[in-house]
Amino acid sequence: MTYVDSSSVTGRRSGHIKLHGPEGFEGMRRAGQITARALDALVPLVKPGVTTAALDKFVFEYGRDHGAYPAPLHYKGYPRSICTSINHVVCHGIPDDKPLRDGDILNIDVTFVLDGWHGDASRMYVAGNPSRRAQRLIEVTYECLLRGVAAVRPGGHIGDIGHAIQVYAEAERCSVVRDFCGHGLGRLFHDEPNVLHAGKRGDGAPLKPGMFFTIEPMINLGGAAVKVLSDGWTAVTRDRSLSAQFEHTVGVTETGVEVFTLSPAGLDRPPLAS
Ligand code: MF3
Ligand code: CO
Ligand code: CO
Repeated sequence: MTYVDSSSVTGRRSGHIKLHGPEGFEGMRRAGQITARALDALVPLVKPGVTTAALDKFVFEYGRDHGAYPAPLHYKGYPRSICTSINHVVCHGIPDDKPLRDGDILNIDVTFVLDGWHGDASRMYVAGNPSRRAQRLIEVTYECLLRGVAAVRPGGHIGDIGHAIQVYAEAERCSVVRDFCGHGLGRLFHDEPNVLHAGKRGDGAPLKPGMFFTIEPMINLGGAAVKVLSDGWTAVTRDRSLSAQFEHTVGVTETGVEVFTLSPAGLDRPPLAS
């Protein structure tokens, strides 16, 4: 894998990992914060009886009111502004008119483009009172994200992230989904490198200051196997076990890592019953 200065690259995915400068960091802070604020604003809206279509509409309007565009809308034909992945849905659940039920757990994934920069983040939400095993899965998954983020430092490798996540998830008797991964992003939504959520320390591309990517582990209570439903998007666990996910957008700094999508209200942590 080779590295190029982001200002010398204009086109599509090039097979190179882009290294960004100060204006990239500034753009990503702004995009990350609008995304985090939308996720914060969703917290009081998620409860039994609410439809995911209503949450989708809220996020679309939130973006419109703040000068940000939801990157998923029409992305490769995706029909909505956000992804809402409930219970055994692993990722890319499409908002619809079914009301949430008491005990549902769901991931809401928001990506806003602001001034050309992408902020991509997701969190778990609960409708009413989830089961204890659902709550435990959410907590394990959040810890996986934190451990993945903590593994990011210049001089380290992409594989360090997956290693940290996999070791912890499996020690907690959970499995790591292999079919989807984190990704580079910046002016593009999905770019090099792929950020695997399972792996070996020291594997993969070296981490260098100026790299931007997401870490977004999907963790299952049962097996890791996934299938995509006939809508072409919705990924579910094959054994219908519960799945959870959290996502941050991060940048590698000279000394460590900057998380662009931290909640200004401190709402990143797993939710309590609502
Ligand atoms: N936000 C998702 C991610 O974390 C991607 C959603 S793309 C969509 O990469 F088309 F499914 F919406
Ligand atoms: Co992502
Ligand atoms: Co996302």
